Amino acid sequence: MQSQGQPVHTQTAAYHLAKDRLELIESRIRELQASEIPLIQDVATYLLSNGGKRLRPALVALCAKACGYKGDADIDLGVIVEFIHTASLVHDDIVDDAVKRRGSEPANRVWGNQLAVLFGDFLYARSLALSVSLGKLRLVEVLTEATSRLVEGEMLDVLHNGNAKLDIATYMDIIDRKTASLFAGSATAAGVLAEVGPEEEAALATFGHDIGVAFQLIDDLLDYAADQDRLGKQVGADLREGKMTYPLIHLLENGTEDERATALQALGDPEATGDGLQQVVAAMRRVGSFDATRDVAIRYAEQARTALAVLPASEARDALCELPDFIVTRGH
Ligand code: FPP
Ligand code: MG
Repeated sequence: MQSQGQPVHTQTAAYHLAKDRLELIESRIRELQASEIPLIQDVATYLLSNGGKRLRPALVALCAKACGYKGDADIDLGVIVEFIHTASLVHDDIVDDAVKRRGSEPANRVWGNQLAVLFGDFLYARSLALSVSLGKLRLVEVLTEATSRLVEGEMLDVLHNGNAKLDIATYMDIIDRKTASLFAGSATAAGVLAEVGPEEEAALATFGHDIGVAFQLIDDLLDYAADQDRLGKQVGADLREGKMTYPLIHLLENGTEDERATALQALGDPEATGDGLQQVVAAMRRVGSFDATRDVAIRYAEQARTALAVLPASEARDALCELPDFIVTRGH
């Protein structure tokens, strides 16, 4: 779900407004990944210098600013959410036996599952220590709750692997936990730093949640429809991994008997790369699975923008309003 080396799109107002904070977050990431064990430093440098859109840190910086926060703890909070996110991707690539991430080999391919899983643990422990150091118990509560939901989502994802009967409601519950939870947690935590009231905190949670859902829907669409080099991951990986996502559920619900049979045959087949994959993609185009997926993502993006109305008008709020569009129109 990540880019190769490009932070939140450099053309957006969101990027320009968050640029200074994002640069400080990058320096702090380098400081905080340090360890006496050279291997940890190597893996951290490999993973954390290897791109990523830094969407969650940008979300933290902009939400804090939109809530009038004037301190410096948004920098550490940006690092915390990026560490949690990176730890989850390292573990996810082990779970999914992924072969590519951000245009390169994932950590499990370079160092093996044993070291990769431990590195994920290290990064998560670092993020927890850092969140405790910020001295706000509510912050730790928000972040650990988001991480628990992240793990629940990933477990449900594995549990339903290859389940051709999975319905949209269950899929939405999975992505709510697996992806939207950390977006919601990032935005909420920024509000906690700024000591906003319950109404603003709820609005931030809704905003983060809704852009998270939109993000995962587009991720699932791009998995079939993206240009592989731009995506930085292998196209069709979800199908080969047996993952039930929105475009596939839509095809199974709306395709012809033949199209359903082709898709079910390819589901979970590690060899489904050439013709088999192309046939599934063609069927998805024919029945409008990509448009249907994008439409739902756009609906969540619009909902996200509406939630921001609770915050006072500001440059930061305007920049936040751009994030849903960026997420829905991205090509990687
Ligand atoms: C990507 O899904 C995975 C996630 C969004 C969450 C993964 C969460 C865990 C592995 C729990 C562990 C958490 C911690 C903090 C150690 P995907 O496989 O659909 O996306 P992809 O195509 O980018 O791989
Ligand atoms: Mg994965």
